[in-house]
Amino acid sequence: MTPLDELARRLPELVLRTSASDLEHYGRDWTRRWTPSPLAIALPSSSQEVQGIVRWANEHRVALVPSGGRTGLSGGAVAANGELVVSLEKMNRALGFDPVDRILTVQAGMALEAVHAAAQAQGLIYPVDFAARGSCSIGGNIATNAGGIRVVRYGNTREWIAGLTVVTGTGEVLELNRGLVKNSSGYDLRQLLIGAEGTLGIVVEAQLRLTDPPPASQVMLLALPSFEALMQVFAQLRARLTLSAFEFFTDRALHHVIAHGAQRPFGEEYPYYVVTEFDGDSPEAALAAFEALVEAGLAVDGAIAQSQAQAAALWRLREGITESLARHLPYKNDVSVRIGTMPAFLAEIQALLGQEYPHFEVVWFGHIGDGNLHINVLKPEAMENADFVRECGRVTALLAQVLLRHGGSISAEHGIGLVKKPYLSSTRTPAELALMRGVRRVFDPNGILNPHKLFDADGSVSVYGETA
Ligand code: FAD
Ligand code: MLT
Ligand code: ZN
Repeated sequence: MTPLDELARRLPELVLRTSASDLEHYGRDWTRRWTPSPLAIALPSSSQEVQGIVRWANEHRVALVPSGGRTGLSGGAVAANGELVVSLEKMNRALGFDPVDRILTVQAGMALEAVHAAAQAQGLIYPVDFAARGSCSIGGNIATNAGGIRVVRYGNTREWIAGLTVVTGTGEVLELNRGLVKNSSGYDLRQLLIGAEGTLGIVVEAQLRLTDPPPASQVMLLALPSFEALMQVFAQLRARLTLSAFEFFTDRALHHVIAHGAQRPFGEEYPYYVVTEFDGDSPEAALAAFEALVEAGLAVDGAIAQSQAQAAALWRLREGITESLARHLPYKNDVSVRIGTMPAFLAEIQALLGQEYPHFEVVWFGHIGDGNLHINVLKPEAMENADFVRECGRVTALLAQVLLRHGGSISAEHGIGLVKKPYLSSTRTPAELALMRGVRRVFDPNGILNPHKLFDADGSVSVYGETA
């Protein structure tokens, strides 16, 4: 009997799939850099089934890849090495709402958009939001500590998790924090699991904190004359308005979004743009803030949405960037520095990337109000992907050195996965890495949870699977 037959015998209700199309579909994420090659796909329907899978995996030493919506951008959910993919897709229900604590309990496979709808049905919001909302799962959001477009106002996923139920690498079920507001009883294991990229446990349920909806908001698009103006515009707007988003992109990004079907916002073209949203401020206050920017030479054009449809059209210019670039197989850097450090950091990396990428198209955008920049390098059509990745890796090593000097992070919100593993040491000290390896050993002594992702348990930086 093969180990997989044994799993099917032990958990007769468990859905297992092994067709070539399923292996392909569930074995890759948005990176599309690795050739999918999982052993099989398991689609548990309950925490007990997840626990049974983990126990079986320990006995047979089969690696598991926890899997949500596979919208990840760092290869964390890739299965290219004969692993069993554990997709939480069937565990996608809201389990209950507590109106006193304002806590929504959900299964980990629920899509972010469905979480938004469930919160709205209670007259509240779950404020973490970004363009993959329709297909990413709350479990994946927790495992990556997802950020998105509202961090400037509401913070990252971490801030909204009141409790977690997880199955550890040994098959233990832990109920962490149980929705408590105050809990000074030692290590906060819930927070350790958030951002762990499926290496410490499989999240099966989450208790999400909800909050009041904001007052009526307004969306404004600004055209800026220079990169240098960017952080000054942020500081001025933050001082005058209640910002809930401050998102930046360049003319190259706009070019791709328009080629992908979005409407051109202005008659003229400008080098830099910002989409910003603010809550509860009057139209007069918004206009006055805009006029002050123009007078100071920090903005050269602008538009304030007059309807929901116009607001959506302005947001599409920013939110459509990832999809519009996908066909160019972009190499993605997702870096952060402290907001105050951003002007010096921007100047330095603009010079670096201008020098190192003379022949590649580089598209800049990101959640600049959080100190988070997305730099996407597009693959020239004629170039082999492996050569392209190698060249971008060389430049990323230089970028990592700059980040180290500025105290920044090689991954602001997408996670390390496979893509950024070689550069983790630019963000974490040897002492931190040693502790992280120790923590991983405690949660997963047999190394079955997402091995080779985030970092290698033995301290090496192994090459994983076969690249596509
Ligand atoms: P997956 O890709 O399936 O998995 C991601 C990681 O989480 C993997 O390591 C996986 O093993 C682990 N994992 C998944 N489920 C579980 C679980 N139940 N328990 C334990 N581990 C688990 N990210 C942002 O932060 N901000 C953005 O603004 C943003 N915008 C995006 C826009 C687009 C168009 C796309 C395609 C992606 C975007 N992302 C963004 C990246 C991605 O959507 C997020 O990382 C998201 O949180 C991943 O969720 P997922 O369910 O797709 O996870
Ligand atoms: C975004 O901000 O649009 C996302 O993080 C996705 C990306 O970086 O492509
Ligand atoms: Zn982002």
